[in-house]
Amino acid sequence: MTQLKGLILSGGRGTRLRPITHTSAKQLVPVANQPVLFYAIRSMVEAGITEIGIILNPETGGEIREVTGDGSAFGASITYIDQASPDGLAHAVLTAEAFLGDSSFVMYLGDNLLQGGLTGLVQQFRTNAPDAMILLQQVEDPRSYGVAELHDGQVTRLVEKPAEPRSDLALVGVYLFTSRILEAAKAIEPSARGELEITDAIQWQVDQGDRVEPHVVHGWWKDTGKLADMLEANRLILDTIERRIDGAVDEGSQVEGRVVIEAGARVERSVVRGPVVIGRDAVVADSYVGPYSAIAKDAVVERSEVEHSILLERAKLIGLEGRIESSLLGRDVTVRRGERTPRAYRFMVGDNSEIEIL
Ligand code: DAU
Repeated sequence: MTQLKGLILSGGRGTRLRPITHTSAKQLVPVANQPVLFYAIRSMVEAGITEIGIILNPETGGEIREVTGDGSAFGASITYIDQASPDGLAHAVLTAEAFLGDSSFVMYLGDNLLQGGLTGLVQQFRTNAPDAMILLQQVEDPRSYGVAELHDGQVTRLVEKPAEPRSDLALVGVYLFTSRILEAAKAIEPSARGELEITDAIQWQVDQGDRVEPHVVHGWWKDTGKLADMLEANRLILDTIERRIDGAVDEGSQVEGRVVIEAGARVERSVVRGPVVIGRDAVVADSYVGPYSAIAKDAVVERSEVEHSILLERAKLIGLEGRIESSLLGRDVTVRRGERTPRAYRFMVGDNSEIEIL
């Protein structure tokens, strides 16, 4: 079989991660200090897929191009494909038609994270040579996913975000397709929400008698489109890191367990309890940084306590009384204790921000 290509969908709007996605694409929000998109690229390269197309929303795509580059840093060759408007996953596939040609390909939603990589899946796809392969996982509440019904191990029905799901098998955002999916995407009509749905395209294949192979995933899988999922993905990835201290830790500090401290970062008079990553040139002083925190480069934590949180570049936490947890602070965000009287809460907060106080 000829080489499989890769297609990563990094367009879309990212409304559920506002305000972070007002200024940046959701696929660039970091998990353990790495843009979530990089995990998809790496797992493709690991599985031998080096010709990768990335679908972009022209409005947010510039930064993705800049950060990701031509792919050489990953050992891949990346082609960027602008999707004029986010009209659905099957529309994204059609947008990539010239790139895909008649190749089979792995499609990976750029905000998904899948443990266990793609190597075994690619192997299975090559060996069984189905017309399409879908990945499924049992979830508690399938209503926010595509949902698959199986009978005797065969896919019979796929429905996008059903109000009353008839199975608990959600579609994972990783698919293996032959070029037949292009035909399917051309044959379907937009859904009630106005999108060309990939679930409808695969349903078309099922209806045509194509062999659509289901593969139930047992390792973890995360769609990072929402804050809680993002934090959970951060936790899962941090659970896999190895201790490495390249930055400076003073004598008054305690660094426990699996902690990565990048070069140029400083930890002073603080306790850092892993798993934690602290990015380049970040500063942690007179503070506690607890498990499952990712502190990005140039961020500052001073006289504060934080755990199970993500701080983006140059975010600052200074002099807080209570402990911060389950939080995501965007770039250049400052949360600090006020010195002025009268003592009062003072906010300058962008659109769609969310603040919970004690
Ligand atoms: O995460 C798994 C789920 O992903 C599946 O269970 C659903 O069947 C599938 O439709 C999808 O649902 P989401 O609501 O999570 O899709 P979302 O709009 O977040 O888009 C997924 C990725 O694709 C995201 O990185 C943005 C990108 N995208 C999306 C659209 C609609 C595009 O590149 N172009 C688009 O037109």
